[in-house]
Amino acid sequence: MSTSSFVLATANPDKARELRAILGEAMGRDVRLLGRPAEVPEVDETGSTLEENARLKAVALVEATGIAAIADDTGLEVAALGGAPGVYSSRYAGEQATYADNVAKLLAELGGSTDRRARFTTVALARFPDGSEVVATGIVDGEIALSAVGASGFGYDPVFVPTEGDGRTFAEMSPEEKHALSHRGRAFRALAELLAAGLPAPAAGPGRPAP
Ligand code: IMP
Repeated sequence: MSTSSFVLATANPDKARELRAILGEAMGRDVRLLGRPAEVPEVDETGSTLEENARLKAVALVEATGIAAIADDTGLEVAALGGAPGVYSSRYAGEQATYADNVAKLLAELGGSTDRRARFTTVALARFPDGSEVVATGIVDGEIALSAVGASGFGYDPVFVPTEGDGRTFAEMSPEEKHALSHRGRAFRALAELLAAGLPAPAAGPGRPAP
């Protein structure tokens, strides 16, 4: 595969850092990732699914820059909360909520519940100027801890304990340990494989154009 250039659609520096690490590892020199131009306005996440929101962000960046864009959207579903916060994970405690606000609300809502099962899902999407796209999903199951532990990562990482781990939260892991198990790691490694194979997303148009 020759080198492809993509603009990252995310305005979240924590996500951008993870994407660069994961895609750099998966695609090496095959990919050049450009930062989101500061003048592109924030995209309203008005979709009702992760895929719709990822698409809204990617389309906005393709339209603003004229080059292919990579976007993702992530949700945390908690079983005892009927799947909340889900697609509203970033604004769970309100429009201007900080990560700490969201974590505090999640712990308060769960209280002493013994059912602490949770799942992170990331939809990763590459969108090309001709409207074709490649989509991949990554999932990690786990449990919500009784209190926040650890200082790495971001978002809900201090309270998410992956089932396939050793009992530590994502925020207690190195970035490499988190990416090996995480929803985002899985989604973007799958996306990288699809891009390398030149496969179109199901029912998503004629396929990936030449880089
Ligand atoms: P977004 O809509 O994809 O930006 O993600 C929604 C929210 O989910 C973010 O604001 C974070 O609070 C949370 N989130 C996304 N990815 C992660 C992660 O890898 N670890 C912990 N929280 C995350």
